[in-house]
Amino acid sequence: MSKKLRDVAIAERASLLGLSPADQAALQHGLALDVADHMIENAIATYALPMGVADNFVINGREVRIPMVVEEPSVLAACGFAAKLARAGGGFRASSTEPIMIGQIQVLDVPDVAAASAKLEQASADLLDWLNTQNPSTISKHAKAIGLEIRHIPLPAAQSVIPNPHFLVVHILYYCGDAMGANLINTACEALAPKIEALSGGRVNLRILSNLNDKRMASATCDVPVSALTTPELDGLTLARRIVEASLFAEYDPYRATTHNKGVMNGIDAVVIATGNDWRAVEAAAHAYAARNGQYASMTRWRLSADNQFLRGEITLPMAVGVVGGATRVHPAAQVSLRLMEIRTARELAEIIVCVGLAQNLAAIRALAAEGIQRGHMSLHARQIAIAAGATGDAIDRIAEQLVTEKQVRLERAQTLMENLKFRI
Ligand code: MEV
Repeated sequence: MSKKLRDVAIAERASLLGLSPADQAALQHGLALDVADHMIENAIATYALPMGVADNFVINGREVRIPMVVEEPSVLAACGFAAKLARAGGGFRASSTEPIMIGQIQVLDVPDVAAASAKLEQASADLLDWLNTQNPSTISKHAKAIGLEIRHIPLPAAQSVIPNPHFLVVHILYYCGDAMGANLINTACEALAPKIEALSGGRVNLRILSNLNDKRMASATCDVPVSALTTPELDGLTLARRIVEASLFAEYDPYRATTHNKGVMNGIDAVVIATGNDWRAVEAAAHAYAARNGQYASMTRWRLSADNQFLRGEITLPMAVGVVGGATRVHPAAQVSLRLMEIRTARELAEIIVCVGLAQNLAAIRALAAEGIQRGHMSLHARQIAIAAGATGDAIDRIAEQLVTEKQVRLERAQTLMENLKFRI
């Protein structure tokens, strides 16, 4: 396809999604350099990535078009394919907990741990009240400190910097509404620290949110009819059983779990990035949660129903994402992403994200358990190789097809084909 035709096709795709001309313009122009310069230090450019929309998602009975930003070929196609399989069983069911984040205050040199803990417990209602109603930097219409937890962390032995081999950690639990909440919590931790020092008689060191936000969770399930899994080579039940075997592989082997979860995060990160959220925070939380039982394990689980009619998938992850504040507010494409999904709350976004993670995982392990992933991957990968070899316009598809036909998807071969093409022109 020529560049001109491709541009028209992309524009048509965007308008078919019902995007307003203003939204289409926002996507085309992306992040302005002066905005970027306000977002980070030493800015020299903006860095673009492909953005697409995953098809076929039905979540809690609603059709949802899901924007994804990702550089890896196949991710969107695979995600939409798995969503179609889930759709055959009624789509995804998703839920989430209240958006509660955790802030941490580390307290050292506490003279009497038991007495300090008791004092902090007793003062907890007053401290929360102070944060919510008296301290100007933490009073908010949308967020609220809702609890304190006191944890005692023993060290295995005295350290040169900590002769008493233990310290206290005070957790502030924060209801963050539709914000991710990092700024709110960090402000609250810093504000509360002097009071914690006074009450405990100790010395505060770190004051920062925990990215293990295991009180802010999102879950999704889907029931794929086994019949929908049938391929020309395999009957549905055989493939469903192989998917369960793949799930068990990742549940019990950390080497496999890491790759399995990388596939889950292919989908999750793409939506997190499309909405201007902090994907490092989401990654850190997801992997820490996957290791919560002492061994790194899979983020999803797949099982057959008792009557062998359905393959059920499940995912539950910490999901700290917001729909207000940060890059979500300033990045024009992030705003369009939210409108595309027709969502208003952070919880709705978190629920969509885990559905995408589950779908992406199904697509990967289904392909691995059936034909393998290289067949589908190669034709898309070949296009990237063709571009890397300098192909543009029509030449991209021509060279990519040739690479796949020859089963030689390599840069050197693409470069040779490019040379030959130039020669012929
Ligand atoms: C590739 O980006 C992701 C996969 O390796 C995931 C998996 O193995 O489950 C295909």
